[in-house]
Amino acid sequence: MSFAIRCRRLALALLVLAGVARPGDAAADDYPTRIITLVVPFAAGGPSDVIARLLAHSMSQTLGQQVIVENVAGAGGTIGAARVARTAPDGYTLLIHHLALTAAPSLYSNLSYDTRTAFTPLGLINTGPMVLVGRKTLAAQTAQELVAYFKREGDKITMAHAGVGSNAHLCAILLSQAIGLKQVYVPYNGTGPAMNDIVTGQVDALCDQSTTAVPQIVSGTVRGYIVTSATPIDAIKEVATAPAAGLPEFDMAIWHGLYAPKDTPPAVVAKLNKALAIALADSLVIERFKAVGTTPFPPSEWSPEAHKTRFLAEIDRWGGLLKTAGVTPATAR
Ligand code: MLT
Repeated sequence: MSFAIRCRRLALALLVLAGVARPGDAAADDYPTRIITLVVPFAAGGPSDVIARLLAHSMSQTLGQQVIVENVAGAGGTIGAARVARTAPDGYTLLIHHLALTAAPSLYSNLSYDTRTAFTPLGLINTGPMVLVGRKTLAAQTAQELVAYFKREGDKITMAHAGVGSNAHLCAILLSQAIGLKQVYVPYNGTGPAMNDIVTGQVDALCDQSTTAVPQIVSGTVRGYIVTSATPIDAIKEVATAPAAGLPEFDMAIWHGLYAPKDTPPAVVAKLNKALAIALADSLVIERFKAVGTTPFPPSEWSPEAHKTRFLAEIDRWGGLLKTAGVTPATAR
């Protein structure tokens, strides 16, 4: 240990004794000194995994320690979230999650953590629409034909999703409401494996984030039908927007955020937030996001406070939306 570090630790110890600093601040001051694990609560190859790996690459360079991605998938992202909620708040285990984290309390009656208090928001990442895709062998060629086909075939349609409360599941619920469809749900641990089964024609349709839907549509392995927003995605301009498909209420924008367990020291939060901000300003990240139709949040929303405000508001919003839709832990399955 260098002389400077020893002096800093001694000064901190004196501040702790004087009640000015808290134990643990010395560790926070040196942070990070070892590998950081970023938990992705969905399968590899899906949109959360893609975003996590892009960030991990940039954040590793900024923090001077490797940020490794670990996929802890299952139960709509709640297994990975529970794992992070249980870990020490030392900045070495982080969570990337999206709006499903905020919908879960309305859809799971057995969560092992209190969503409102279990996490320290570190900063918002990206936001963007979803895209309804289908296997290439579906008879429908256009959005209008697909809606007519879905209405005609009713409960014969198989709709893949990434677990109860995942974006793909919430999007499928909104689609059901918009067109009065009663499809058969086929749950996966993430939209990565779900998309593989669309490509091979095992299931009919999937509502996926643009991040992983766009590359498949562009390479022609699946058919893109509807973008869940009023604005088209540049890379797939030919795919109808929800209003153009006659479904203006089929409107859903996802968002990802970065989290640590509750009680993470402020000095660690500040370092991670700064590394995240550098990643979001990285031209490679911006370019990759743009190519797949997703957008980094603007700098005015990069602070942990802005993230916390959105996070708490989204818990209330999804609680209200799901209640109005009559979706409960019992009916969601
Ligand atoms: C994933 O990475 O598989 C997705 O984020 C799952 C989802 O649709 O929520």
